[in-house]
Amino acid sequence: MRLNVALVLLFREIFCYNYTTKFIDVPLDHFSFTNNATFKLKYLINDSFWIDDGPIFFYTGNEGAVETFAENTGFIFDIAPTFNALIVFAEHRYYGATLPFGNASFSNPGHLGFLTSSQALADYVYLINHLQTTHQRSEYLSKVPVVAFGGSYGGMLAAWLRMKYPASVVGAIAASAPIWQFQGLTPCENFNRIVSNVYKTAVDDDCSAPIQKSWKIIRNITANDDGKAWLTKAWKLCSPLKSSDIDDLLEWYSEILVNMAMVNYPYPTKFLAPLPAFPVRNFCYKLTGEKITDDKSLVTAIGNALEIYTNFTKATKCNNINQTAASLGEEGWDFQACTEMIMPMCSDDNDMFENQSWDFKKYSDKCYTKWGVRQTNAELPILEYGGKDITAASNIVFSNGLLDPWSSGGVLSNISSTVSSVIIPEGAHHLDLRGENRNDPKSVIEARQFHVSSIRKWITDFYYSRDKNYFKKSIFFNKITYTHGNNI
Ligand SMILES: *[C@@H]1O[C@H](CO)[C@@H](O)[C@H](O)[C@H]1NC(C)=O
Ligand SMILES: *[C@@H]1O[C@H](CO)[C@@H](O)[C@H](O)[C@H]1NC(C)=O
Ligand SMILES: *[C@@H]1O[C@H](CO)[C@@H](O)[C@H](O)[C@H]1NC(C)=O
Ligand SMILES: *[C@@H]1O[C@H](CO)[C@@H](O)[C@H](O)[C@H]1NC(C)=O
Ligand SMILES: *[C@@H]1O[C@H](CO)[C@@H](O)[C@H](O)[C@H]1NC(C)=O
Ligand SMILES: *[C@@H]1O[C@H](CO)[C@@H](O)[C@H](O)[C@H]1NC(C)=O
Ligand SMILES: *[C@@H]1O[C@H](CO)[C@@H](O)[C@H](O)[C@H]1NC(C)=O
Ligand SMILES: *[C@@H]1O[C@H](CO)[C@@H](O)[C@H](O)[C@H]1NC(C)=O
Ligand SMILES: *[C@@H]1O[C@H](CO)[C@@H](O)[C@H](O)[C@H]1NC(C)=O
Repeated sequence: MRLNVALVLLFREIFCYNYTTKFIDVPLDHFSFTNNATFKLKYLINDSFWIDDGPIFFYTGNEGAVETFAENTGFIFDIAPTFNALIVFAEHRYYGATLPFGNASFSNPGHLGFLTSSQALADYVYLINHLQTTHQRSEYLSKVPVVAFGGSYGGMLAAWLRMKYPASVVGAIAASAPIWQFQGLTPCENFNRIVSNVYKTAVDDDCSAPIQKSWKIIRNITANDDGKAWLTKAWKLCSPLKSSDIDDLLEWYSEILVNMAMVNYPYPTKFLAPLPAFPVRNFCYKLTGEKITDDKSLVTAIGNALEIYTNFTKATKCNNINQTAASLGEEGWDFQACTEMIMPMCSDDNDMFENQSWDFKKYSDKCYTKWGVRQTNAELPILEYGGKDITAASNIVFSNGLLDPWSSGGVLSNISSTVSSVIIPEGAHHLDLRGENRNDPKSVIEARQFHVSSIRKWITDFYYSRDKNYFKKSIFFNKITYTHGNNI
């Protein structure tokens, strides 16, 4: 069972964005007065573009080392000069180097209990206040405005930061943020249907059909020892398959299919292993191009096609099915997915995956065995963050690519005049937060233009509300225009 598909894929790019690494002491527990402990929260800062009273662009870090997000959020670097902005990327507690109990952070429930989205948001509010206090230049303003940015779970945090703490951030760009991927808000089958549609339509021949057939066939073939040995060889696995490995094997295979859909970008990107442009299309060309005559040739063809993902460098010796795809903060996210971020997923005959029902009891039991904590309320985030009832919010842009499975839990229509939804039909997982690229589809360029005009409005409203004369005197607003192509 895909207990949790890591929300964000952490892939390294060839570009290197530069910044300075800093740490700040933050309270371990923001909500009690009986615990005085603090820990060091890491953040990255770049003040090269910060001029006058320019805003702070604040990335609300998600489930991984913060450098990964800095390296894959080129959009902020691209537009910072236009806005004279200070750039900050904050690391989420319990990920990367931000470990409240060091290497013992995951060792017991008493340590892990401080890993919640509410504590993380309070960390960000604390850091924002520190930044505003230490980055104050003008006699006209007591503080500079802050805009939140985030992708995926980070996008959920950016949106929630604005909802919960509107005095701390003037607005939020929430890219591919599945704030509605919770029980009671979104049918559990939607996610896998989107993945299947991406495969169904990637090339002329329906590439989801052979995949849909494959699950039963693989179970059948691996039911005996000869079959296990055959598949071990055919799929170039590192260690011989045992009966107890079959579920892991199928999970590894289905995770690769999901991951390729998420990073189905129009240009090559680097994950743990590098990927070509449009990995799904490449996979499907390879799969549908092979001669399939019987069960074994179908499984062989799939094994060969998977090399698009596992062996694009041609340097992979063998496949380790225990190596889940590169989400660095796997332990932390697994705990979050067991406590607060329970995102129901299921499969049925309308998608290409193996049948799987959503069984909260079973899920919760597995979590209890692993972490020693039991969540009985899968709908807690609805109480915490309002579910679909977010009309009281303001100044948030939700963007979603329709090729992205996570759009299943996204906000796909406008909520109000200040809570907007931007659709990127040709976009995969938060493509709009990546730096400009000559292969960007028109829809992502337009989405970025929408972001820029929203940010412009939020911060000009802020400056204007503080001092109308200051606003008129300020020269830099005149230059806030955004022309795609400047940064390529
Ligand atoms: C800020 O980022 C720009 C663009 O990557 C880089 O050229 C500059 O050196 C960085 N500045 C600092 C202080 O890291
Ligand atoms: C990165 O920024 C630091 C200052 O923060 C600077 O010393 C260094 O030269 C920069 N490196 C590059 C490659 O721009
Ligand atoms: C927290 O710090 C205050 C002031 O130093 C101290 O009086 C108090 O006993 C501390 N509380 C705990 C629970 O350590
Ligand atoms: C954890 O950190 C402590 C103190 O730095 C060290 O002594 C210990 O060897 C570390 N344990 C592991 C498993 O890395
Ligand atoms: C596997 O498939 C073959 C032929 O398709 C069939 O004869 C056999 O009974 C199946 N074995 C199992 C274990 O389902
Ligand atoms: C995967 O890991 C489990 C437990 O760590 C081990 O028993 C199994 O042999 C591994 N499987 C493969 C194919 O490496
Ligand atoms: C990767 O590609 C190379 C070159 O084609 C091949 O020799 C090797 O077996 C492949 N490895 C895997 C795991 O597919
Ligand atoms: C999947 O489940 C549905 C409903 O339980 C059932 O009708 C269908 O036959 C199952 N499909 C497969 C391929 O097992
Ligand atoms: C939301 O409103 C904006 C501005 O009017 C519009 O450009 C956009 O297409 C709307 N979004 C959706 C999903 O309809």
